[in-house]
Amino acid sequence: MHVLGIDIGGSGIKGAVIDAGTGEMITERYRLETPAGAKPVDVALVVGQVARHFNWKGPIGCTFPAIIRNGVAHSAANVDKSWIGTDVKALFEEHTGNPVTVINDADAAGIAEMVFGAGRDQQGVIIMLTLGTGIGTALFVDGHLLPNSELGHIEMNGGDAERQAAESARERADLTWKKWGKRLNQYFQKLEFLLSPDLFIVGGGVSKKSEKFFKHIKTRAPLVVAQMRNEAGIIGGAMAAHAIFQNGDEGEFDAQMILNSSTDEA
Ligand code: BGC
Repeated sequence: MHVLGIDIGGSGIKGAVIDAGTGEMITERYRLETPAGAKPVDVALVVGQVARHFNWKGPIGCTFPAIIRNGVAHSAANVDKSWIGTDVKALFEEHTGNPVTVINDADAAGIAEMVFGAGRDQQGVIIMLTLGTGIGTALFVDGHLLPNSELGHIEMNGGDAERQAAESARERADLTWKKWGKRLNQYFQKLEFLLSPDLFIVGGGVSKKSEKFFKHIKTRAPLVVAQMRNEAGIIGGAMAAHAIFQNGDEGEFDAQMILNSSTDEA
């Protein structure tokens, strides 16, 4: 089944039509700037434009950088606070005229990696991280996702870990790779102590430069680079929508259902 995946980020809103069974992109990626201030209605207008670009009629899978339960946003770390309590699903359905599924961006990227990327066929406890404006996390146990894990916001040195260790923290303070690497090491050590993972999958744009900072991260669990790169969110979002569409379930999504319905078809 073809699904339109839309990935909403701090700087861009990107869409592509995805074959949810294989994870392949059927079209080129289409990207528009995230509107300044990123308020709900402004973002929804751009989501509508992306859907119209593809002349889309069918299910849409959207990712959003916040806690998302039953289509409603419950946090707003790097987006306008007015998102909290917004029914994102209903808002985007109104602006696109199509059925929409919304899930957390890191969960979407993690799902794509688990089914088609670095986590494929991997068992045990896996932590997928996206290093960007924020730190997104997706937590899997034997392929089951614990949704909305928000481990980017654990406490570190008396503050929010994300403020110190996200890619944006490196850029903001113009940190050397070594200095940032040390902060990341501290962060990864904390995650390892709390959750004893078997594998870390590291995504986000900066993962392309893993040779510059992986050497500073000294965890017991191996670290691998995400394989789906920039497209992980679009693909994972589309896969979530596909699974929910197939199961006729409009409520809380179940990640295993997503993994099953995608691998069954692949
Ligand atoms: C948000 C998460 C999101 C992550 C990556 C964090 O600031 O709290 O919900 O997944 O950024 O975008």
